[in-house]
Amino acid sequence: MKVLKKIGVIGAGQMGNGIAHVCALAGYDVKLNDISEDRIKTGLANINGNMQRQVSKALISESDRQTALNRIVPAVTFGDLTDCDLVIESASEKEDVKKKIFGELSQIMPKDALLASNTSSISITRLGSSTDRPEKFIGIHFMNPVPLMELVELVRGIATDEDTFETSKEFVNRLQKTYAVAEDFPAFIVNRILLPMINEAIYTLYEGVGSVEAIDKAMKLGANHPMGPLQLADFIGLDTVLSVMQVLHEGLADSKYRPCPLLVKYVEAGWLGRKTKRGFYDYRGEKPVPTR
Ligand SMILES: NC(=O)c1ccc[n+]([C@@H]2O[C@H](COP(=O)([O-])OP(=O)(O)OC[C@H]3O[C@@H](n4cnc5c(N)ncnc54)[C@H](O)[C@@H]3O)[C@@H](O)[C@H]2O)c1
Repeated sequence: MKVLKKIGVIGAGQMGNGIAHVCALAGYDVKLNDISEDRIKTGLANINGNMQRQVSKALISESDRQTALNRIVPAVTFGDLTDCDLVIESASEKEDVKKKIFGELSQIMPKDALLASNTSSISITRLGSSTDRPEKFIGIHFMNPVPLMELVELVRGIATDEDTFETSKEFVNRLQKTYAVAEDFPAFIVNRILLPMINEAIYTLYEGVGSVEAIDKAMKLGANHPMGPLQLADFIGLDTVLSVMQVLHEGLADSKYRPCPLLVKYVEAGWLGRKTKRGFYDYRGEKPVPTR
């Protein structure tokens, strides 16, 4: 089994910064990349804030926080990632973006380095085939928010070898998380079940069956969900929700996965949920206010 010491993370958005966060706390050296230095800085600032919150809740000590923060360094170019044993891609949920990243990494990463994607839905076999090492490629799918959620889905592509799978299991164990193994079908397990439910909630809004508030209240109090489906959609990011529905629709060729036109409209407006401060709720004031 390969021994992992240094982890590269591509994409310093909500998921990428969470992955860097948990890797650093578990004792790995981490290199964090994004398309600009500013985005890396924002990612690092978010990690700092999130770790601060863990200190104030006595989940970690101040010295754990300092040590972990010192383990994370910016990687301004992919060239800075070549000493990493494993690179986890967590860039936007767009197949062409991910394939371009893996194409570039294939050219510069040492042959024994593992490559992984945190994709929510895209075929691991297809992404793996865009690399020079499909046998060393795997899906390591974290849940949002990464520091709080226990589950990681492990997804093998058709070519993923046993050593890569075993190394990934050990990696998840060291992060003190639990893995579930999913086969490589569109959206794997969690999102195959969760995202059509969210899409249906958006149809329920679109058809006027209920308001944003009524739908979220109904599912929280009526189905005992900790968060309403529209609140959860804003939390995930509406661009990601739409991309996953498109992958399900195209990949399974079943009209039941048709993305709701209202979801498309929100994404076209750039109302992507919490990360842009507006989605099914408006987060610009003190309290979230429904936008419909
Ligand atoms: N949001 C969720 O709940 C969730 C959960 C599990 C997995 N995921 C997956 O994680 C990935 C990232 O999602 P997110 O929610 O963090 O999105 P996000 O929009 O918060 O972050 C994406 C980041 O990727 C960066 N990026 C885009 N192209 C890049 C490139 N070529 N090189 C380097 N960086 C690049 C962007 O600048 C951005 O900072 C997606 O594949 C998504 O499906 C998301």
